Amino acid sequence: MNYKIEGMLRSAVKLGLAAWMCTAIGQVPSARPWSDSKLSPDLRADQLLAQLTQDEKFHLIRSYFAGPRKPEDKPVPPGYIGSAGYIPALERVGIPAIQESDAGLGVASSERMRPGDYATPLPAGPVTAATWDPKVAFRGGAMIGGEAHAKGFNVLLAGGTNLMREPRNGRNFEYAGEDPLLAGTMVGEAIRGIESQHVVSTIKHFALNDQETARTTVDVRIGEQAMRESDLLAFELAIERGKPGSVMCSYNKLNGDWACENDYLLNQVLKRDWKYPGFVMSDWGGVHSAAKAVNAGLDQESAAEIFDKDIYFDKPLRDALAKGEVKQARIDDMVRRILRSFFAAGVFEHPAKKAPIDEKANLAVARETLEAGAVLLRNDNQLLPLDVAKLESVAVIGAHADKGVLAGGGSSLVTAKGGNAVPGLKPSDWPGPVMYHPYSPLKALQSMAPKAKVQFTGGDDVAAAAALAAKSQVAVVFVQKWAGEDFDARDLSLPDGQDALVTAVAKANPRTIVVLENGSPVAMPWLEQVGAVLEVWYPGGDAGNGIANLLSGKVNPSGRLPLSWPRDVSQLPRPELPGAGGSGALPQSVDYAIEGANVGYRWYQSKDLQPLFPFGYGLSYTSFEHGALKVDTKDGKVTATVTVRNTGKRAGADVAQVYVQVPGAKARRLAGFSKVFLKPGEQRELSISLERKLLADFDTAKHGWVVRGGEYVVSEGRSSADLGRPAAVQLPAGVLP
Ligand code: BGC
Repeated sequence: MNYKIEGMLRSAVKLGLAAWMCTAIGQVPSARPWSDSKLSPDLRADQLLAQLTQDEKFHLIRSYFAGPRKPEDKPVPPGYIGSAGYIPALERVGIPAIQESDAGLGVASSERMRPGDYATPLPAGPVTAATWDPKVAFRGGAMIGGEAHAKGFNVLLAGGTNLMREPRNGRNFEYAGEDPLLAGTMVGEAIRGIESQHVVSTIKHFALNDQETARTTVDVRIGEQAMRESDLLAFELAIERGKPGSVMCSYNKLNGDWACENDYLLNQVLKRDWKYPGFVMSDWGGVHSAAKAVNAGLDQESAAEIFDKDIYFDKPLRDALAKGEVKQARIDDMVRRILRSFFAAGVFEHPAKKAPIDEKANLAVARETLEAGAVLLRNDNQLLPLDVAKLESVAVIGAHADKGVLAGGGSSLVTAKGGNAVPGLKPSDWPGPVMYHPYSPLKALQSMAPKAKVQFTGGDDVAAAAALAAKSQVAVVFVQKWAGEDFDARDLSLPDGQDALVTAVAKANPRTIVVLENGSPVAMPWLEQVGAVLEVWYPGGDAGNGIANLLSGKVNPSGRLPLSWPRDVSQLPRPELPGAGGSGALPQSVDYAIEGANVGYRWYQSKDLQPLFPFGYGLSYTSFEHGALKVDTKDGKVTATVTVRNTGKRAGADVAQVYVQVPGAKARRLAGFSKVFLKPGEQRELSISLERKLLADFDTAKHGWVVRGGEYVVSEGRSSADLGRPAAVQLPAGVLP
């Protein structure tokens, strides 16, 4: 429809004159005009909103908890599937039930939610981020979105974008590392993938919920410029790319106000500056008021009857409305935003319902994500890849590698087909159970090398493990560190005496390969003693085969770290994390102004610190050469051009990473990147356009992105610490549109 006519229609709808307007422009008024998918989501939302009663509006602005509850709790209204959240259908006007499921690594399910149900687990978020390949992120998003849809869900609470300021944060495995451009791009693509399946995606946790310790009470202190250029920039970029239908505000306070009633965050930044048209839902238990939250921009209260002190968006909000503390126009705005997101995602035309799932294809998506995102951290004397044809004996040690691979804990936990491969580990209750997905690395390694004697021993008996390693050609030691929602690690160490295990095995056999299953960086005191280290994080579906493919060289590792790997906590902006892992009194506030926008590698660079492994780092089984960098500017747009050549004997992928030093700054910023797959001897010229917001600063007085002007130093390379000869460009001062 012509946009002018549509504009007139929207005004007519608001004035209650839609039927008259339709006749005037020669259209037959329909009973449900919003059913016409050719109309814009905005107009459809206006039309439907105009039909709703006040009770129906109140019905849409709060969800019920659809998970397990205590006998004394009020029952959920009928029709829920069993998940995180639910709003019954409004059949009178054809609004489907809203069925919300966690989360970003697949359709979460626990025995208590939907007994017997299972889904395909993607690898942890840092794996997807480490692929540096937006296509992989999109495919993963589309896979989990498709599964959600085929299970009857039309909302996935997926899109974890919190930056890794704190390597001890228990939820880093749900996120995408420390850099705003990389996280924004990769999460944005995952969201786009989810929404492509007619499922509303929920970017979260907005914002600065970067630690779990005291997550529901802690006050995060940070300046405006610093947050706009770091965590908020990651959200801004991800929202621009992915267009998620909803945003979940977080538990914490930000500069004194709860995130879910924070006018700066929700009204000023999200809705005014970013013109976000979707709706804001609270995190479960994140609401503390009615009028204040609504007037600050919160649109929907989640699972209040279980998690909030009151059901604020029912009686308290109706009272506030009656007293004039909240305007009816705002209630309408809340409902319009919710409806708009469901129209925009195509939820009305493509209702989520039970449908068959191609499990094999989906497992391949999970495995290929791992294969593209596992990071080879060390490979002394080219111990890897293993020459499987010549392998006679392999010792596989530790971390239940005979049975499966570890998953992270909390609301995002997916139960894979086959259930928990190692049941009974503690904690079995929230945020447990500790889950191993049933994709055995041992079995995969055995079928990779059918002629070899592949033997397993658990890590508890160090002497037995060392003895097995001593009589084997190579030893593959799996080490694990479980992390989860609602708690942070006390430190970076591996638990359960695994350092002693690795040391003993490496002493018995220098051809020792360590495979890491973890949510965030861990200390590796034995690093120099082992031959190789492969980081797979929580590696997800079909990971046994993925790991075997990587170790055997069937797949060449091409993951690059989406985070800096500290040597130890003394290098961090906050060496102490008070209260972490139950270690003492909970903090009232946390000071993120220490590093400000210099999160991760920018912190290390600004303090002249050398991390154990820098952001962007990762080895390959082949070698690459990057040619001279050229930088062009045109109409304020900056493009870097570089030729990457595979100089080795194996096919593989490399990432060209472009960093910029803006005038006066010591630290560089990632401003563009491109991943390229090359056969041996092949070369490709890559043209990489740089993100303008990374060339600019956020100016709090001018309230916008300002390019300071002057000389910008652009460098390209294979990691944030491995850069070629820089090129300087002059940019004129200016304000970004
Ligand atoms: C988590 C969210 C999750 C929600 C619903 C909260 O505790 O912080 O990430 O989506 O629960 O399960």
